Amino acid sequence: MPPRTIPVSMPDLSGHEQAYAAEAVASTWISSSGPFLDRFEREFAAACGTPHAVATSNGTTALHLALATLGVGPGDEVIVPAMTYIATANAVTYCGATPVFVDIDPETWCLDPRRIEAAITRRTKGVIPVHLLGHPADMDPIAELARTHGLWVVEDAAEATFARYKGRPVGSLGQAATFSFFGNKIITCGEGGAVTFADPGLERRMRMLRGQGMDPARRYHFPIVGFNYRLTNVAAAILCGQMERREAIVARRREIVALYAAELAGVPGIGLRTDAPWAETAPWMAACLVEPGRFGCVRDDLAATLADRGIDTRPMFIPIHRLPPYEPAARKRRTDLPVTDRLGSLGLMLPTYPQLTDNDVRHVCHSIGAIGAAALRRRRAAAARRVAADDAAAARLPRAA
Ligand SMILES: Cc1ncc(COP(=O)(O)O)c(C=O)c1O
Repeated sequence: MPPRTIPVSMPDLSGHEQAYAAEAVASTWISSSGPFLDRFEREFAAACGTPHAVATSNGTTALHLALATLGVGPGDEVIVPAMTYIATANAVTYCGATPVFVDIDPETWCLDPRRIEAAITRRTKGVIPVHLLGHPADMDPIAELARTHGLWVVEDAAEATFARYKGRPVGSLGQAATFSFFGNKIITCGEGGAVTFADPGLERRMRMLRGQGMDPARRYHFPIVGFNYRLTNVAAAILCGQMERREAIVARRREIVALYAAELAGVPGIGLRTDAPWAETAPWMAACLVEPGRFGCVRDDLAATLADRGIDTRPMFIPIHRLPPYEPAARKRRTDLPVTDRLGSLGLMLPTYPQLTDNDVRHVCHSIGAIGAAALRRRRAAAARRVAADDAAAARLPRAA
């Protein structure tokens, strides 16, 4: 019997999610206010160690809302990694500002604090470190640099909900932090997001901007141009169910990533990220680097062969400075991001979700090992055939006198 298909991701909605969503529907509070929304914002803020959380329609709108609330506008520059999902840079662009790309650290795969200062100009207003794939960025030196230069820090924690940095929850480490609750994220409601922050001065403006700019004290009076970035009470109900099981969800994701690391450790040409000693990760996706020389084939051929065997994977993000909307400006700035480019061309994301069994993980790792070994055998056989052909050709040459 062929092994079952293994998707790259799957939401785990096995707790009270369905019952709470049904309760929201039965109550008729299905739009953007209701008790589940209040409960989710309260519980999520507490889990992130911040006084405030504002729920949004997705992680991209959370980013845009955070930047708009901080007053980012035309002419501003914002430092971001290029190794992230496109939304991080797009949110800066929505504000009319310019994302300036800085390389990542080869150990953490997150924004490299040693490379930020060289990118700061008099236009720079802030920095967006991304906690890539669930591993926190090294926030202390980033916060220190930001303080020195009078910049804000917004954490993009879309892939790292409930991770911790030196014991402190992500979401509490900058002026604001943003989260995604898309279907493949650590907790999900299909589409959703949130912004967390400590400064009470931001809350009124953020809630107004989220709700079309309406004055909370005067219905249909809009003193500013806002957006409709609200989350529904039905979606918040699903998130309340997820919040109840968040510790188990994160723990299982950590076990899965540890098992991948153990099983892939001996496979030639497969590289893995090791967690920094100060990181408590909340793994979004397990990932590995495929070094073609030692592994036997390139990343995309490995992914295609895994797909033939029913195992779904994702290539690492294409670095944003290589994508059409951003490439011309990056070239003009002579943007050179070797660590980002290497991860972009060698990185492969592997199936990661709580329902994945240990045997599934072993099956994925065994398949990777077998595909690499077969590719190496084919390569050695081709090299041997070339040598034999060269020897035969040499034998046909006239002998020297
Ligand atoms: C780092 C990062 N930022 C932002 C987002 C955007 O989140 P959403 O898809 O909920 O808009 C994502 C989503 O995948 C992400 O990975």
